[in-house]
Amino acid sequence: MKITLAKHGGFCFGVQRALDKALEMEKQNIPASTFGPIIHNPLVVNMLEEKGIHSVDSIEECETSHIIIRSHGVSPEIYQECEKHTVNVVDATCPYVRKIQKKAKECKENSIELIIIGEKLHPETIGINGWYGSDALVINSVKEAEAIDKMQSACVVAQTTTPEERFDDIIEVLKEKVDNLEIFNSICSATKQRQKEAVDISENSDIVFVVGGKNSSNTRKLFSICKERCDNVYHIETTKDIPSLDYREYDNLGIISGASTPEWIIKEVYYTMSDIEKVEQTEVTEEKVTEESVPVEDNKSETVAEVPAEESAPAEESKPEAAEGVSAEESANASFMEDVEKSMVQIKSGMVVKGKVVSVNEDEVCVNIGYKADGLIKRKDFSNDENESPLDVVKEGDEIEVEVVRVRDEDGNVILSRKNIEARKNWKKLLDKIEEGGSFVGVGKQAIKGG
Ligand code: F3S
Repeated sequence: MKITLAKHGGFCFGVQRALDKALEMEKQNIPASTFGPIIHNPLVVNMLEEKGIHSVDSIEECETSHIIIRSHGVSPEIYQECEKHTVNVVDATCPYVRKIQKKAKECKENSIELIIIGEKLHPETIGINGWYGSDALVINSVKEAEAIDKMQSACVVAQTTTPEERFDDIIEVLKEKVDNLEIFNSICSATKQRQKEAVDISENSDIVFVVGGKNSSNTRKLFSICKERCDNVYHIETTKDIPSLDYREYDNLGIISGASTPEWIIKEVYYTMSDIEKVEQTEVTEEKVTEESVPVEDNKSETVAEVPAEESAPAEESKPEAAEGVSAEESANASFMEDVEKSMVQIKSGMVVKGKVVSVNEDEVCVNIGYKADGLIKRKDFSNDENESPLDVVKEGDEIEVEVVRVRDEDGNVILSRKNIEARKNWKKLLDKIEEGGSFVGVGKQAIKGG
């Protein structure tokens, strides 16, 4: 099975910026809360909770001196609330969102009707609408566009994560409805790149994993884009959600992720599937698996040429540095892929490796083999002598040789065997004795019909 990992993975620029601001507060020991979950990913939210950065739903609820406004942005009333309650604002509103808020404000000041294409209840849409006095017309489908009355003039903006196809279809209808329509295509470049890649990958895969929070709007949109093009699409938050399937039935697995999905989760999913792939190659061919890793470079999807025009990005914000002729996002994602390749540790069934005993008890031995997960030797795989307890043979810190039996069992553990190594060593000793014409002592185990 060929695995194609989307080039545009991990946090987008706006999400990374918001998270950096939150972590900076923690580093400087400044008590801070976030206004709503900083991103729609439960693992990241939990990680911040553990660092003492809690999410609040209202400014009144805020018990810290600072509040972080997440990348979705908020309406002007929230800033006023902060002032009223003397809470300092750390503004992580994504510059792309801020640009739409400015446009909404301008429309209000110039009495221009505003139409927002987006989800009514999404915090970003609520925030944008707030800058228009919460009076804009919010639509999210062609059907809703068809239902609006004729207008003389209006400006239309979009939630940054709106699927482009939907935006284009709605615009076609609005052109018929509004005589003077100002079109402000505010779908952000990170969204466009990810959506384009989702189309490419899902059209060329027979199974697709969309990795991201179940409550992440942009991940859900990627999921529906893929679902329209591929029959087997799974939305997974962590490796625990990877479905138990017979992957031998699939030729091409595509892995894509939302803009709020941490890189470590994408890597975990990628590694896990690479491991499953190797295990299955072993099962199918019963041949030794070669040292080669999954050819990531070959499997990369096409480069998305579309780069946000310099002038389209909000000018007042600093942006990630980019190499000449390469967008910041492309450059960041290239290094992401390099990371994946560099940190790829290779183990496979049948491989013999050395490891250090991390813990030992009557039933199993946990061994660090330098892989991303420690390996387990179950008692039945420890010794040929079933009466021998691991506690009598090894202790914490010992270096031992083990064989990889399975890269990943049903519980996600690497299963190791010491017994196989011992058996091989004993077999060699036995052959040497035979060659020497020597004798050896054995223990009768059982009398059977044949002898
Ligand atoms: Fe900003 Fe786009 Fe990310 S609007 S938060 S860069 S998805």
